[in-house]
Formats: sequence, C-alpha cells, structure tokens
Amino acid sequence: MGIKKTVSVLGLGRMGSALATALVDQGYDVTVWNRTDKPAPAGTTRKTLEEALDSDVVVTCLSTHDVQQPLLTGRIKTLVNLTSGTPEQARATARWAAANGVEYVDGVIMAVPQQIGTPQARILFSGSEDHHVLQVFGEPVYLGEDAGLAALYDLALLGVMWSVFGGYLQALALVGSAGVTPERFTPFATDWLDVVGTFLPEMGEETHSGRYETDVSALDINVSGLRLLTEANGEQGLDTTVPRALHDLFERAQRAGHGAHSIASVIEVIRK
Ligand SMILES: NC(=O)c1ccc[n+]([C@@H]2O[C@H](COP(=O)([O-])OP(=O)(O)OC[C@H]3O[C@@H](n4cnc5c(N)ncnc54)[C@H](OP(=O)(O)O)[C@@H]3O)[C@@H](O)[C@H]2O)c1
Repeated sequence: MGIKKTVSVLGLGRMGSALATALVDQGYDVTVWNRTDKPAPAGTTRKTLEEALDSDVVVTCLSTHDVQQPLLTGRIKTLVNLTSGTPEQARATARWAAANGVEYVDGVIMAVPQQIGTPQARILFSGSEDHHVLQVFGEPVYLGEDAGLAALYDLALLGVMWSVFGGYLQALALVGSAGVTPERFTPFATDWLDVVGTFLPEMGEETHSGRYETDVSALDINVSGLRLLTEANGEQGLDTTVPRALHDLFERAQRAGHGAHSIASVIEVIRK
C-alpha cells in the first residue's frame, strides 16, 4: 500500500470539520486552518495558512468563493474545491489554477455534514478526474472536464429542491387554513411527489426534442389551475408570491402560442 497523501482542510465550519474528521478516520495526515479560533477536530493539526498550503492536497470548504479566492496561491499542488459557487466562479478558478500549475478539482457536496463518510454523501465533481480524496467523503461522480459542471448541477438540483420546499410550505399554509395539521397532510405530499417524479423523464425528452404535442394535460388547463391556486391562497389571506410567479410564467408560454401544448413547452419562455 502506498503512502497516503498529506491533506489540508481550509475552513472548520460545519462541513469542513466533517471533512477533516472523515480524512482522519481514513488514516490521513490532516492539517487544518480556519480564519478564527475554532477547535481543531480530533486527530488533526492546526497550522498557519502558508504551512497548510504545502500539503499534497488542499481541500477548501469556506462559505463563498469570494472569501476563498484571496487565500489561494501558486504554492498549492492540488486544490479540491468544495466551497459552493457559480459555474463561472469555478471556471475562473480553473483558469487561475492552470496558469499557476495547480491541479484543480471542483466538487459539490449533495449531503449534510452528518452524512460525510457514508455512501449517502454524493459528491459531484468536474475539472481534474482525480477523485482520490473525494472517495473518503462519500460517493464521487465525475461529470466532465469543464470545471463549471459540478456547480451547474449543484445549483440546478438545489433549484428543484427549493421549488419543492416552497410549494410544500405553501401547501401546508393552505391546508393549515382549514386546521389540517402537517402530520395529516405530509404523507399525501410525499406520495404525490413520487407520482410527479414519474413525469420528469418524458418532460425532459420533450424539452430536448421540442415536440410538445400532448394527450395528457394541456398548458391551458394548468394555467387555469394555477389561477385557482393563486385565488385560493389569496382568499385565505396567504402570501401568493410562489403560485403567482408560476401562473405568470405559464401564462406567458400560453400567450406565446403553447396553450394546447404540454407543460414542457414553458421551457421555451424560460430559455427566451
Ligand atoms: N452545511 C451543509 O449542509 C452543506 C452542504 C453542502 C455544501 N455546503 C457548502 O460547504 C461550504 C461551507 O458550509 P458550512 O455549512 O461549513 O458553513 P459554515 O459552518 O458557516 O462555515 C463557514 C466557513 O467559512 C469560513 N469563512 C467565512 N468567511 C470567511 C472569510 N472572510 N475568510 C476566511 N474564512 C471565512 C468560516 O470561518 P470562521 O469560522 O472564521 O467564521 C468557516 O470556516 C459552503 O460553501 C456550503 O454551501 C454545506
């Protein structure tokens, strides 16, 4: 068995601490650095930033790319970025890394700190294909050479999640107006999400082919439904931002001539 690489973790927030601990558990020699004085996870060594950058691999897990960028120098050999950012921020860091002789892996963690080190922690990554260290954190999935891909998938998937959460909270407020408890309603919502998920592959295919003929449900009827949903929320004195935004978006697709088409045709308005 070869000698394990030395690894530094920059950032001892909730996620960075979990990453450092997972590395220690797998027998790595782990150096940590944090801006302020936070306790170093058991088994790690706290060093200065300059010393931390000398490890074979530097893993970053800070709040944003903006606070991270000034910390990076060409002294780094391999940079594994796990700080969330936009695809363009990842690509800019990749360009900086290439110009400075730094190997660059850009990853996103589709999990919470408590799942780190288990197969439930899916790590999407792009840029360099070396996933040596990522395997310690969870289940790495390589997306391609374009360093921006991981951030792109991350934000796209979080967008699905936030939309579902927003819809769910709106639903709880609506049924709650009639005294229905979350405990009573939530099983209906989770069952419904299973059904809704089955529509996605066909919908995705329609957006790809641009063929929106449907014998299932036309956009017209969904615009009417969204109007009813917006009115029902308004009648109960609830905020209508979420249903109104969807109604307005779908209605724009209807006005653009997609009324008889499937819901997938809304992507034509989103793409402009
Ligand atoms: N937590 C999750 O469930 C989760 C899941 C997936 C991805 N992520 C991503 O992981 C990253 C870290 O998240 P987290 O939950 O660990 O956040 P966190 O607990 O808030 O920790 C933030 C870290 O960033 C550091 N930081 C903030 N401003 C800084 C600055 N100006 N200079 C240097 N360091 C600075 C903090 O240092 P101080 O201690 O000195 O403030 C701390 O180490 C984020 O990009 C997040 O999107 C988190």
